[in-house]
Amino acid sequence: MSPERSIDKKRIAFLVSGRGSNFQAVLDAVAAGDIPGICVGLVTDNPEAYAIERAKNAGVPVMVVDYAGFPTKAAYEEALLVAMRGCRADLFVLAGYMRILGTGIVREFSGRMMNIHPALLPAFSGLHAQRQAIEYGVKVAGCTVHLVDEGMDTGPIVVQRCVPVLPDDDETRLADRILAEEHKALPLAVKLFCENRLEVDGRRVWVR
Ligand code: GAR
Repeated sequence: MSPERSIDKKRIAFLVSGRGSNFQAVLDAVAAGDIPGICVGLVTDNPEAYAIERAKNAGVPVMVVDYAGFPTKAAYEEALLVAMRGCRADLFVLAGYMRILGTGIVREFSGRMMNIHPALLPAFSGLHAQRQAIEYGVKVAGCTVHLVDEGMDTGPIVVQRCVPVLPDDDETRLADRILAEEHKALPLAVKLFCENRLEVDGRRVWVR
């Protein structure tokens, strides 16, 4: 049996708040046969998210857990957890999910949840990472895919890609340049996970 055929396809689910271009990049890589996985669900906190259209076009089931419809963050997270469990995913990909997950969810999916962030972590965690990079005056920026732990953008790093910051960059131009790299970094990280090639050793992630 070829090495590819010996790998069981992983069930991949996504947590997305908006546009979903990173979600699309993974969908495309799965459709192209580059990732041994099946996209089994999109969970979103935002009923207006364009990612919903992308999921429908790809035949991926959508679960909307509308943040605005819950009285407390705890009630929202309880419903979110139910939706996430329903996906029966091997891997959860946070692809532009713009809220901080509670510790209950992070613990339940520990080691099988990854996030993409538009900065070279540990620099510029949190919101508006590209603006932070411009304002700080760095010469190199980029993106990071990391496993999710209980901190904000602090989990072990799986893949990073960098871009130059050019003298006439504004936040939008830099964000676009970084996004093009995100669309390579995230499918690669998902592929490595699905091929069972990631080995986590404390803060370090080795690729076998
Ligand atoms: C991406 O740039 C992603 O890195 C960022 O949101 C954007 C989502 O774009 N995520 C964060 O800032 C998380 N802290 P997309 O919806 O087109 O993939």
